[in-house]
Amino acid sequence: MGVLAPSIIAADFGHLADELDRVARYSGLWHVDVMDGHYVPNLTIGPMIVEAIASVSDLPQDVHLMITNPADTWEWYAKAGAARIAFHPETAPDPLALLRDMRAAGVGAGLAVNPEVDADEMRPFLADVDLLVVMSVHPGFSGQQFIPDAVPKLRKLREMAGPELDLVIDGGVNEKTGPQCVEAGANVLVSASAIFGSDDPAATAKRLKAIADGAR
Ligand code: DX5
Ligand code: ZN
Repeated sequence: MGVLAPSIIAADFGHLADELDRVARYSGLWHVDVMDGHYVPNLTIGPMIVEAIASVSDLPQDVHLMITNPADTWEWYAKAGAARIAFHPETAPDPLALLRDMRAAGVGAGLAVNPEVDADEMRPFLADVDLLVVMSVHPGFSGQQFIPDAVPKLRKLREMAGPELDLVIDGGVNEKTGPQCVEAGANVLVSASAIFGSDDPAATAKRLKAIADGAR
């Protein structure tokens, strides 16, 4: 069974608990996009929101850190209730050490792979990650167009990593692009605007969950 991971970045934050409620039954986890205004030109969520989500939902949270110096602040998110944390390897002086620190603290550890980063660059980390977040947009904003180069990259990463790794596709995922990603080996579909920007988020989430369930 695949997993649908709604990214709350496109939800209505004035009614966040209701927004989560509408799609929770089709969701396996929440994807939380943390942006700091430095690593990416956008500022979003901090640990307070992770804590707030944990207080209204039992679903696990994947925190996607798009920040400089994740080594300095990842523990805030762990304490706030993140189940897993992914960061961009170029933001950490020693990515392997950071992955190991996270796992030692009982937090799932992951790396996010930018569009210009080759799959082979992940090879040294494969034994130390629980998830890889393959970016099919340049990090920073919801609502961008899917970059199709992510599809062969998923295929290669799935071959390299084997069946156990959670291979997450993040950016521009919708009912058109989702099936290609699943076919190429993704088993977690992140989606923000396709769900929360649709007229009927629950119906869209249901269809995206069915697409994710095509995962091997
Ligand atoms: C991009 C984020 C994504 C993105 C998803 O920087 O990591 O999670 O916001 O948004 P959509 O699904 O709208 O592309
Ligand atoms: Zn993300």
